[in-house]
Amino acid sequence: MSKALEGVKVLDFTHVQSGPTCTQLLAWFGADVIKVERPGEGDATRKQLIDVPGADSLYFTMLNHNKRSITIDSKNPKGKEILERLVQTCDVLVENFAPGALDRMGLTWERIQQLNPRMIYASVKGFGPGKYEDCKVYENVAQCAGGSASTTGFRDGPPLVTGAQIGDSGTGLHLALGIVAALFQRETSGRGQRVQAPMQDSVLNLCRVKLRDQQRLAKGPLKEYSQHSEGIPFGEAVPRAGNDSGGGQPGRILKCKGWETDPNAYTYFITQAAAWEKVCDVIGEPEWKTKPGYSKPAERLDKLNEIFNRVEQWTMTKTKFEVMDLCNPLDIPAGPILSMKEIAEDEGLRASGTIVEVDHPKRGKYLSVGCPIKLSDSPVEVTRSPLLGEHTDEILATVLGYSADEISAFKSSGATEPSKKMAAE
Ligand code: COA
Repeated sequence: MSKALEGVKVLDFTHVQSGPTCTQLLAWFGADVIKVERPGEGDATRKQLIDVPGADSLYFTMLNHNKRSITIDSKNPKGKEILERLVQTCDVLVENFAPGALDRMGLTWERIQQLNPRMIYASVKGFGPGKYEDCKVYENVAQCAGGSASTTGFRDGPPLVTGAQIGDSGTGLHLALGIVAALFQRETSGRGQRVQAPMQDSVLNLCRVKLRDQQRLAKGPLKEYSQHSEGIPFGEAVPRAGNDSGGGQPGRILKCKGWETDPNAYTYFITQAAAWEKVCDVIGEPEWKTKPGYSKPAERLDKLNEIFNRVEQWTMTKTKFEVMDLCNPLDIPAGPILSMKEIAEDEGLRASGTIVEVDHPKRGKYLSVGCPIKLSDSPVEVTRSPLLGEHTDEILATVLGYSADEISAFKSSGATEPSKKMAAE
């Protein structure tokens, strides 16, 4: 079966997490992703958080499936020549270097357009235009600058970053959508274009409901926040809301059977207005269905602690899976807090290809997250990440049409060797 992006060639200058997330998705949708890496060294994540000596780290392997790797020293004249040839041949260039790095390699947007007017040039940077545009940025900085950290955590604690990599992987997703949209527009315009997804902007997009609440706060207290039911006044900015749900329906994380020893024996539980009567029956408080002060959603807002304490007395008598099994048929929204161990063993996620086992020549079998987006006409087979420079000859021959003599001339130019400075390090 063909793939959605079959025939699209991606010149992949990405490294670490944000950019590689994007190009991995493009590869899963069928694009030929050519990852350009620095000779001898490659993407820095190859050597970060090593668990198997001598093998690429899981950090690298889990972000670079289905790609090919070519090593080119972009500062070597012959290397620059090859890069320009690749720019002429590919459809998309993706990069997430520090601001200005690609320009310093000689690949300015103007030069790229001269070489290939159909090229889509996509970048991740920490910030968009403005006073921080030259900053190098990592995940947690983006979470802090994009409004996530100030709104995550408990009111009486410090700002918190989340485990979901919304700054890196979240931005990679945004960039991938921009690239696909630009490819679609190129069908009619015939032109490439620049695609930019700053990490701050992408995090803010995911924190949209908090900017909603910032504006609502100007009109009065946020009545669905637990803070309101506790009688604690609001300040000028949207506070951290603990585990309150962002949709306005009261929700909390509650203890389940075994919580004393299992740090994940918890459930999320929502006392959704539409399911209130069923909640009352399930927890054994049927009189709350009609009791004044309890029967209407607005009346319950100043009693959320009392109500959730009572629900928790009930959830503590059940495992998190029993809570799910009992609530689901009644349309009471609830969900178990799953540990990574439980997710790794989840049969459903394995069956759907979202958890996959991949074999690697240097590390053996490992688990990875496969493509979470399913296209019925573009199936995904996850293949292992490339070794450093594994496809250099193959790419020169098949993409640029180099003969064996031209390949060896290129190699003897030193453009695929570590520079002296790097080799000494
Ligand atoms: N050949 C020769 N040199 C190469 C090369 C190659 N194939 N690939 C990269 N380099 C060079 C670059 O040209 C640059 O050199 P220069 O600064 O002398 O011009 C150098 O390697 C370092 O690249 P850079 O991107 O600046 O890496 P860094 O380690 O200094 O910074 C980040 C890392 C992630 C902070 C930075 O890339 C960044 O801010 N990126 C944008 C935001 C982002 O994506 N952050 C999240 C990452 S998950």
